[in-house]
Amino acid sequence: MSEQSSESPSGVDADPAGLAERFAGLAERLAAHGQQHVLRFWDQLDAAGRDSLARQLAEVDLELLDQLVRGEDQSVDFGVLAARAEAPPSVRADGTGAEWSVAEARARGEESLRRGEVAVLIVAGGQGTRLGFDQPKGMFPVGPLSGRTLFQFFADRLKAVARRYGRTVPLYLMTSPATHEETLAYLQANDYLGLGRDDVHVFCQGTMPAVDRESGKLLLAERDSLALSPDGHGGTVAALQRSGALEAMRRRGIRQLFYAQVDNPLVPLADPELIGHHLMAGSEMTTQVVRKRFPMEKVGNVVLVDGRVQIIEYSDLPEQAAEMTDEAGNLKLWAGNIAVHVFELEFLARAADDPQRLPFHRATKKVPYVDERGQRVEPEEPNATKFERFIFDLLPSASHAFVVEGIPAEVFAPVKNADGAPTDTPAAAKGAIVDLHRRWLEQAGVNVAAGVQVEINSQLALDAGEVASAVAEGRLPAAGTTIESDQYFGG
Ligand code: UTP
Repeated sequence: MSEQSSESPSGVDADPAGLAERFAGLAERLAAHGQQHVLRFWDQLDAAGRDSLARQLAEVDLELLDQLVRGEDQSVDFGVLAARAEAPPSVRADGTGAEWSVAEARARGEESLRRGEVAVLIVAGGQGTRLGFDQPKGMFPVGPLSGRTLFQFFADRLKAVARRYGRTVPLYLMTSPATHEETLAYLQANDYLGLGRDDVHVFCQGTMPAVDRESGKLLLAERDSLALSPDGHGGTVAALQRSGALEAMRRRGIRQLFYAQVDNPLVPLADPELIGHHLMAGSEMTTQVVRKRFPMEKVGNVVLVDGRVQIIEYSDLPEQAAEMTDEAGNLKLWAGNIAVHVFELEFLARAADDPQRLPFHRATKKVPYVDERGQRVEPEEPNATKFERFIFDLLPSASHAFVVEGIPAEVFAPVKNADGAPTDTPAAAKGAIVDLHRRWLEQAGVNVAAGVQVEINSQLALDAGEVASAVAEGRLPAAGTTIESDQYFGG
C-alpha cells in the first residue's frame, strides 16, 4: 500500500488494526442510541486517538444511559417517603438507646481488631473540584503544624491502632482515573507512609460519561475522548469486586470493613466502639451520624421508613418533615450523615453480585467540552448532567442497619471548600484538630496558653486516654505545666 493511499480522506485505508471495522461497529451501535456524533472527528484522529476513543465507548452502557437520560429510573417520591419517616434505631453519644453499654461495645470491637478481622476502606476517587487543589485530595497538607497530608494522617492512626491491638489493619484505598496514578506515585515515593507494603491496597473505581443537560447527548472532552467522571462513591461496590479486593479481604480473614472519606481528618478510623456497636446490634451496615443542629441543615438525613434505614438528602426532605419533633420537642429526624460506615464484608459481597441495587443520582455541573467545530468550550453555567452512585443507598438493603451518634468535634471536620468559604474549609479542619488535641491535653492536666496551637501524632497518643498515659510517662509535657508556643508532638 502506497504512502499516498494511507492519507486518503477517510484515513482508513492504512488500517492494520481493523479500525475501519471498529468504526462501522461503533457507528452502528451509537446510532441506535442517537449518540453517533461522538465519532464526528474520527477521520481526523490518529490510530492512537481512535483506539482510545473506541475503548472508552466500549465501556459505556448505552442502554443504561438511555434510561438515565429518559429519567425512567426516577420513581421515588421523597415527600411521601419523608412523611412516614421516623428516627432510626440508634445508640446516642451518651450511650442511651442500646441494650448494651459503651464499654461492652468497645470490648467487642477490640476483640475484632485483635483477631485481625477489620480492614479500613478510604474512598479517594473524587475530583475535589470545590477545594481547587491540583493534586488528589489525600495529598492535601492538613496537619496544622506538621503539614502532614490527609493520607499520612490516616496512616499514622492506622499504625497506632496496629500497635495497640497487636494486629495490622490493612488499608484499601479507592482511587479513580482522576487520582490513581498520582496517588500511586505518592505512596511509592513515601514508602507507603510507613504502612507495610502488603497492608496497602489501591484499587481504581469506574467512570460514567457526562451528557449535555438539554439533549442527553454524550459530551466529548477532547476530539478523541469522552467527558468521563468517577461513578460516585457507590462505585466502590463494583470496584471492590472487579479489582479482586473483596476476594483478597476474604482470604485474609477480614469480616468488617470500616469505610471513610478521604476528606475527614478527624474520622476515628477502625474505632473499636463503632465496630463494637455494629457487632452488638447484629448490623450489616452501621452508620455514624451527628445530631443535626437545625431542621434544614445540609446533610443527608438517616431515617427509618417502613422498617428500613435509609438516607433522604436535605434537598429531597420537605420542610414540614424536617421540622417534625418528638414528645420532648427534639427533632424527630435528627441524624445527619457524615459518611462513616461499618460494613459486614459479606453484605458488600452480596451487593456486588446485584449491580442494579444502587440507583444513580444526577448532578448538574459545568463540564468543559469540545463543540461540533472542534472548539474547546469552558461553560460559565452548568451545562451537563453527571451520574453518580452513592454508597449509602445500600442501607435499605441491609437486613439490619444501625446508627451510632458521634460528637462532631471529635469525629467530623471535612475538607470540602477552599479557604475563604463559610464552612468545611482546610482552616476549619486544622482548627478542629488543634481544638481536639488541646482538649486531650487539658483533660490530662496540661495547660495550653490561649491562641497556642498543638498537634499530636496518633503514633504518640491516639486518644484522650493515651494522651493521659503519655503525660504521666513523660512523653508529653507534665501535668500542671503550660505549653506557651505552638508545638507538634511527633510520632
Ligand atoms: P464528594 O462528594 O465530597 O466529592 O466526595 P469530591 O470529589 O471530594 O469533591 P467535589 O464535590 O468535586 O468538590 C466525598 C468522598 O467520596 C469520594 C471523594 O474522594 C471523597 O472522599 N468519592 C467521590 C469517590 O471516591 N469517588 C467518587 O466518584 C466521588
